[in-house]
Amino acid sequence: MKSSKILIAPSILAADFSRLADEVHRVEKAGADWIHCDIMDGHFVDNISFGPSVVKTVRKLTNLPLDVHLMIKHADHYVPRFVDAGANSLTVHVEREAEHDVAKTLQQIRAAGCRAGLTLNPATSFDSIEPYLGEIDLLLIMTVHPGFGGQPFRVDQMEKVRRARDWKIENNPKLGLEVDGGINVETAKVSIKNGANVLVAGTAIFTAHDYAAEIRALRGED
Ligand code: DX5
Ligand code: ZN
Repeated sequence: MKSSKILIAPSILAADFSRLADEVHRVEKAGADWIHCDIMDGHFVDNISFGPSVVKTVRKLTNLPLDVHLMIKHADHYVPRFVDAGANSLTVHVEREAEHDVAKTLQQIRAAGCRAGLTLNPATSFDSIEPYLGEIDLLLIMTVHPGFGGQPFRVDQMEKVRRARDWKIENNPKLGLEVDGGINVETAKVSIKNGANVLVAGTAIFTAHDYAAEIRALRGED
């Protein structure tokens, strides 16, 4: 079976914000498939990043799909603002601390015309997302505890990627299987081998000398 294309989603969290337009244009030119926007509220995670107005700014800079990862409490309250800002996919957390009705939020995202994504922290069991697998377009397996870029990849999360891959093959071959955190050329290979087809990478891309070469290497092209 021909494997599907590996999609690369640079996380602008690691970009130089004083030159955000240039950074977005550079990754687009370098072959990025999506732009990953990490939204942190200082409550669900111990960090604050940026909100809908920055997403709206990025929307004006590129036609690439904007992959918005909501590391926030009460995602349902903020979904309309990120939809208006131009998000193409919205990914929400399953943990109880995210304080929303997961099934309802996923429906809300789809009803707004966005791809619905669900994610889980490394400490959260795969069983907690299993009931929602039929209701999503994208499953994000966190390979670091969310909150900060530049952390080491957790290989122990590959078991979840394999379980998701098995479910995907049986039930929905179109499900995006995304990994996020500590992705570099080595850990990208491991993730792809286990079944991931969308790779988020912040530090690896934005600290690279040659963005295009780095993106090709992450995809496994030489
Ligand atoms: C972690 C974020 C990630 C992070 C990835 O909380 O969800 O998207 O920015 O950054 P790197 O690639 O530097 O681990
Ligand atoms: Zn992310």
